[in-house]
Amino acid sequence: MMLATTKTLCLALAAAVLVAASAEVTPWMNLQDDPESRAHALLAQMTLAEKVTMLHGHTEGNYSGNVPAITRLNIPALNLNDGPQGFRAPEKLSGTSTGFPSILTLGATWDPDMAAAYGTAIGEEFAGKGANVYLGPGLNVARVPLCGRNFEYLSGEDPFLGYTLVQPMVKAVQAKNVIANAKHWINNNQEINRDRVSANVDERTRFEMYYPPFEGAIKAGVGSIMCSYNRINHVYSCENNETLGIDLRQRLLGSQRAWVVSDWLATHSTSLVEGLDQEMPYGLFFDSLLELDLDLDLHNVTVAAIDNAVLNILTPMFAVGLFDHPLNGTVEANVTSPAHNTVARKVAAAATVLLKNDAGLLPLNATQPMTIGVFGIQGDAETWAHGGGSGSVTPPYIITPFQGVLDALGIQRPAGHTGQEDAPVGPLCNARQQCVTYYEGQNDTITEALAEAVDVALVAVGTASGELLDRVHLGLGRGQDELTTLVASHNRNTVVHVTCPGAVLTPWRNDVSAILVGFMGGQELGHAMADVVFGHVNPSGRLPVTFPNVDNEVGFAERQYPGIEDHLQTYYDEGLEVGYRWYDAHGVTPAFPFGHGLSYTSFNYSGLTANSTGVSVRIANTGSVAGAEIVQLYLGFPSSAGEPPLQLKGFAKAMLAPGATTTVHLPLTDRDLSIWDVQDHAWSKVPGTFQVQIGSSSRDVRLAGSFTVSQ
Ligand code: BGC
Repeated sequence: MMLATTKTLCLALAAAVLVAASAEVTPWMNLQDDPESRAHALLAQMTLAEKVTMLHGHTEGNYSGNVPAITRLNIPALNLNDGPQGFRAPEKLSGTSTGFPSILTLGATWDPDMAAAYGTAIGEEFAGKGANVYLGPGLNVARVPLCGRNFEYLSGEDPFLGYTLVQPMVKAVQAKNVIANAKHWINNNQEINRDRVSANVDERTRFEMYYPPFEGAIKAGVGSIMCSYNRINHVYSCENNETLGIDLRQRLLGSQRAWVVSDWLATHSTSLVEGLDQEMPYGLFFDSLLELDLDLDLHNVTVAAIDNAVLNILTPMFAVGLFDHPLNGTVEANVTSPAHNTVARKVAAAATVLLKNDAGLLPLNATQPMTIGVFGIQGDAETWAHGGGSGSVTPPYIITPFQGVLDALGIQRPAGHTGQEDAPVGPLCNARQQCVTYYEGQNDTITEALAEAVDVALVAVGTASGELLDRVHLGLGRGQDELTTLVASHNRNTVVHVTCPGAVLTPWRNDVSAILVGFMGGQELGHAMADVVFGHVNPSGRLPVTFPNVDNEVGFAERQYPGIEDHLQTYYDEGLEVGYRWYDAHGVTPAFPFGHGLSYTSFNYSGLTANSTGVSVRIANTGSVAGAEIVQLYLGFPSSAGEPPLQLKGFAKAMLAPGATTTVHLPLTDRDLSIWDVQDHAWSKVPGTFQVQIGSSSRDVRLAGSFTVSQ
């Protein structure tokens, strides 16, 4: 008995000593210290081999990339996964994550609250899957309308849009103890030859046009940044001292620590000194760090450089909570949920852009008897809801446009019907005498007859794109333009719903009554479309890209895109004239301008006041239904600045009940009034008179004013 008590006491004592010892030997777990101090404390305990382990990936595991845990020091494994529009599960686990709408769709909401909701849902799914690094969001500015990955990028063609929306998005992801990854740094603006092409672009253009979305991510505390495959001014991105070492590290990050991870196999050397911290997916170059004679400083790599890279990784790991809240999710987990499906639907609906709506055809009144014909492959037979490549997610289901209409009207789809039949499917009716028929559109005579027979014709068209390939034209292809024109010539109430990965051509736009656009709407595409068609959601999405009249309307020469000398040199001769900035500068009217999008209600603007610290305006909902206006502020710089005519510098979403009024204030900072000075390598506030234009799109200006910035 005595013996047993002594033993218990000894054990208790030993445990107490262990706890005390562990507090002493794991000083990095002291929550009072800031993340960087904790990283230093941990680094001090690491062997060189352990440090090098953190600087590159391994191929084992279920994730896009993996850095093994260092169990001796309780350093968690890093599980990096694509992204950006959901968790890309291994094939055998397809359907276990939500197929969210594309990141460009999020851009089309112009809504920071939606960005936060999207980020929260993404963070939850990644955490549930045990992935503590989300390879997203994509932040490249859409310079080339054909670029195959534009759908993965938040900014569309405007850096300010991305700069603003990325902040709540990154914060929300990281609040779930998942590190976000801003990709692809930088000027990975085309997929053709992306692994070798040199983007030849000057410093001012880089800072003003291409860096701001990344700056927004940095402002939000993003933990990691991915360097891209391409070269910039002839030097590979992941070893480019100018863009990585100086611009990103010194000028944008400054003392803030985030790590730079290579895109998969985008390394060409042990470029630690140039600013790369981690090589993925294996250690092609970085594996050899241990074999280098570090004392001799061969390959320009020193222990100090290795330590610095490890600190760049460990600091955000502490800051985002990877040590204090280790994830217990597993890749096998099914992380979809009704709540996340709802987020997917809400974002896709809020991003749906109403391009035109003649005679107020939309919304359709779902309480009245009606017959609807849904046409087109995109309608049901072959619905594209996502783009391809590393950003693709196989969702548990896809709601097609036809299904969306059926669900909205409470009509059951007959069992066994797939949507791929040669003959029309339907009419399928409910008790309210609302009937829907689907026809893919193979036979013109059948198409014409059905179009003539129905009250409303809904033509669902679409096109997709993906990684590694750019689109070859902006058309829809596959006879979809012809089908649209044919249907429209037989039905005055033709509504077109377009699903696209970026800008598309709309040659039939004058023939149809209404046009809706969504940018790869994800698994809830059809519900989101129907929410807008039947007016459950009043559209407030706005174009994040200009819709041109024709292919290559901006007149890119071959040297600008896809490049010359076997496509390996591209020259950004257009400078700041990207997207709408080019249209404004050249006085060209596009098919639909940047920022355009209609509502089922109307808004009145009044009482503009403007000075260099901000612009205020009164907005009234003058229609009969509640709705949200995206109030957009464009500034014209003093002509001495050499800027494009107008630039987006503020926006806000104002949700208003019918008859309600609110004041919208859009703050301006010195940075908003500055250009990048290449002599001083710094932002320089421009003195002179700024023109203020405020309105509903880049071309729908409701009020104008000006203010002056003194010398
Ligand atoms: C893509 C990245 C992606 C990575 C990992 C690369 O091909 O460019 O965006 O995160 O693969 O799958």
